Amino acid sequence: MNVLGIESSCDETAAAVLADGCRILSSVVASQDLVHAPYGGVVPELASRRHVEVIVPVVESALADAGVKLGDLGAIAVTQGPGLVGSLLVGCSLAKSLAYVMRVPLVGVNHLEGHIFAAFLEPPPPEYPFLALVVSGGHTALYHAPAPLTYTLVGRTRDDAAGEAFDKVAKLLGLGYPGGPIIERTARHGDPGAIAFPLAQMTDQAPDFSFSGIKTAVSLRVNRHGPLSPGAVADIAASFQATVVKMLVRKTMKAASRLGVKRVVLTGGVAANQALRGALAAEAALHRITVHVPSPRLCTDNAAMIAAAGAARIAAGQRAPLTMNALPDLALA
Ligand code: KG4
Ligand code: ZN
Repeated sequence: MNVLGIESSCDETAAAVLADGCRILSSVVASQDLVHAPYGGVVPELASRRHVEVIVPVVESALADAGVKLGDLGAIAVTQGPGLVGSLLVGCSLAKSLAYVMRVPLVGVNHLEGHIFAAFLEPPPPEYPFLALVVSGGHTALYHAPAPLTYTLVGRTRDDAAGEAFDKVAKLLGLGYPGGPIIERTARHGDPGAIAFPLAQMTDQAPDFSFSGIKTAVSLRVNRHGPLSPGAVADIAASFQATVVKMLVRKTMKAASRLGVKRVVLTGGVAANQALRGALAAEAALHRITVHVPSPRLCTDNAAMIAAAGAARIAAGQRAPLTMNALPDLALA
């Protein structure tokens, strides 16, 4: 069965066609980076307007790339939440219209479950039970998945998401938007041990994350030592990245050993970061834990992951009514 996936939860307009629940026939992502770059972050009103402009051509491209027609679709999966309400509404409206006109089943997908399902798009798929670290621009959370389509929240950020911290630190350093890839590139020229940034510790020992402290530490450093030389900027980027990676890897490994799971899924936009991928793989190998990390293009927002999660939910008998609506605060667990 061919499933059309539609994703518009934040600043990426995406559509994909998936066959058999895991074979990507096409995946089109229209980035809005240039729209939001002048503001150093996503402007919700501009995001929804841009989605309206490009979503139909994006879906048409996905169908054309896959070599299928609307009539060849067996189901439509769309991101229902969490995300920006105005952005989500654009994808949901189109998905509902297409499902109504083509008389095919519709399913609403949780964006975070979509990120987890990106790991099922490349062999070998993760076996249950596993622990998933979803680390993106809007979310940083650890989920325990004991069985298909079942999730328990293990830990989450108490303030900023990790990707948000990358974006804000890049802005403080005058590097541009989106910050993650730019910090990663800049960090290659810096010394990760140059600055000892604080590692957030939870006084209650909870497996939660916090990234606001390190962001403030960078801000204080920029204000105190600015204007910074390119070498100083690279050292801050490298030290910041190394500290964030250390926090993410440490909490994930601790949670995995406490839960006794032998498989970890690393996903979300920040999972495109090579330093994080490398550090988690190295630490996991020491504990004989298998890490599943999607290719970078499947870690960042895309619609193939939404179609994959949707196909699994369709197979489990789930259907959304045409009255379904965007849920900006939709929880996964
Ligand atoms: O998953 P995603 O595309 O969208 C959300 O669901 O939020 O994640 C976007 C986030 C942004 O904050 C971006 O800066 C970050 O992922 N990101 C990275 C990298 N590539 C994207 N962070 C660190 N290193 C990267 N290479
Ligand atoms: Zn995302």
